Amino acid sequence: MRLIILPNYEKASKWAANYIMNKINSHLQGKPFVLGLPTGSSPLGIYREFIKMYKEGKLTFKNVRTFNMDEYIGLDSSHPQSYHYFMMQNLFNHIDIDRKHVHLLDGKTKDPENECRLYEEAIAAEGGIDLFLGGMGNDGHIAFNEPGSSLISRTRVKTLTAESKASNARFFDGDLSKMPTTALTVGVGTVMDAREVIIIVSGRAKAKALRAVIEEGVNHMWTVSCLQMHQKAIIVCDDEATEELKVGTVNYFKDIEKDNLEI
Ligand code: GLP
Repeated sequence: MRLIILPNYEKASKWAANYIMNKINSHLQGKPFVLGLPTGSSPLGIYREFIKMYKEGKLTFKNVRTFNMDEYIGLDSSHPQSYHYFMMQNLFNHIDIDRKHVHLLDGKTKDPENECRLYEEAIAAEGGIDLFLGGMGNDGHIAFNEPGSSLISRTRVKTLTAESKASNARFFDGDLSKMPTTALTVGVGTVMDAREVIIIVSGRAKAKALRAVIEEGVNHMWTVSCLQMHQKAIIVCDDEATEELKVGTVNYFKDIEKDNLEI
């Protein structure tokens, strides 16, 4: 796994956005680029960069298919806290992606199991995911694969942990009682099947999880650690997120990546 350390969130976001732009632009003409996407505050800087790149004519999403990671159960796509709404507001409304190429799990489905099965089938029908972009929870989770999730899990229903509810209550007027208690989420195995994975990590609140994911072994209690077993995974982070890493670990990754940090 590569670890790209940049001085701040803005630079980390720019680095990741540039990396993904180059991947999309160098993809085989005519063959769709399949991009997995997250929500949360972590990817917002990357989405702002994507919009800027699109407006400057450097990037088009005409050839891109997207699959989002997760969605709250019980929220309609028009609910302001749904991940559907988040994606429309923060990315899709501002770029030239064809709406029929945008895939999100339906939080209002009457048959969650079938919805999850169809989602996996839709990913397979597109030839799999070329690049999965993700964030990381404070407890090291990816999508809604909470601590203890199977590392070979597929898209399914998950119950949200107290930690996830507490972290995300800020989007529900800080009121835990308004928070959904379950979500539909791609599995760790679904993410691991992507040909490439990039995780953006920012801030001190993530430092403990980043230490576990980078310096400790593969462990279902920190599901992002599964990426140690991925052929092509990158964690892009800011200095603050590295505060719990050993000085030697930080120096090591800064040294081996020193020629790759240009934005
Ligand atoms: C939720 C989302 C994750 C996201 C995490 C961290 O659990 N399901 O995909 O990575 O929150 O969110 P943030 O980026 O706001 O810290």
